[in-house]
Amino acid sequence: MKVWLDGGLVEEAEARVPVTDHGFLYGDGIFEGMRVYHRKLFRLEDHLARLATAARALALEIPGGVDGARQAVLETARAFDQDEAYLRLIVSRGEGPLGVDPTTCPRSRLVCIADDVRIYSDEKMHAGISLITSSWRRPSADVLDPRVKSLNYLNNAMAKLEARQRGADEALLLNAAGHIAEASVANLFAVREGKLLTPPATDGALEGITRRSILELAAQEGLPAEERSLGRFDLFAASEVFLTGSGARIVPVGSLDGRPIGGSTRPVMDQLSLAFGRLTEEAGTPLGG
Ligand SMILES: Cc1ncc(COP(=O)(O)O)c(C=O)c1O
Repeated sequence: MKVWLDGGLVEEAEARVPVTDHGFLYGDGIFEGMRVYHRKLFRLEDHLARLATAARALALEIPGGVDGARQAVLETARAFDQDEAYLRLIVSRGEGPLGVDPTTCPRSRLVCIADDVRIYSDEKMHAGISLITSSWRRPSADVLDPRVKSLNYLNNAMAKLEARQRGADEALLLNAAGHIAEASVANLFAVREGKLLTPPATDGALEGITRRSILELAAQEGLPAEERSLGRFDLFAASEVFLTGSGARIVPVGSLDGRPIGGSTRPVMDQLSLAFGRLTEEAGTPLGG
């Protein structure tokens, strides 16, 4: 693991944040998760743009601005020095007195961590993961906008906990209207009658960068795709269901609430996975070396 903290790389043992940081006290902050594939940072500028938008939405200053964040990511990734890596970039409100008031925190804090992250075994990546419909609903945008990738991930964590306690791999989150939002930390796609479907972000999903890449690749591959509201019915009716995310990558779903979903083959997901693999080889910010 390599860690960047407050302006430079630090030893892992020294990578400590004070207990008075409002990111710790109140979940006041934002983050990004991104990947290095083949020594190239995939969609770095998209991640930085989403971070900047989230910072604006929360009136949070990125220390050193977007250029500072880019430098931290690239230097941490170079120090990690692996062909493949997962990068976690965090901006917290910084230290302040007890009390939720963000104006009492004079300096926000930037942290970047590079490490290996593997969420599902090879076997699950092949056979498909199990989903349960979570009893936790995704909060609406006027409560806690799911389009902001904030440090406030209790809803996601509780849904994941429920899935694990019920013996499943992942949770499916619905919004208050019963429409599918996404999984705990990944977007969802279904294929029905040859058409790729994914819920709109306004149904309670993050505007995922892997999701966007998949929609762009579908257009290039001539696969029809549509962003529209989906219910559990659509998943039971689908020939394929899969999740996407920087951490998880492209993950087939094999069952929902104990019932098998999709068919025995996944031609659309396989085609898109191949195209995604090519994209990660060709595109991205080179780390050099
Ligand atoms: C809640 C949530 N949804 C979806 C995603 C997928 O987004 P991306 O493809 O940008 O990683 C993430 C992050 O991995 C997430 O935290």
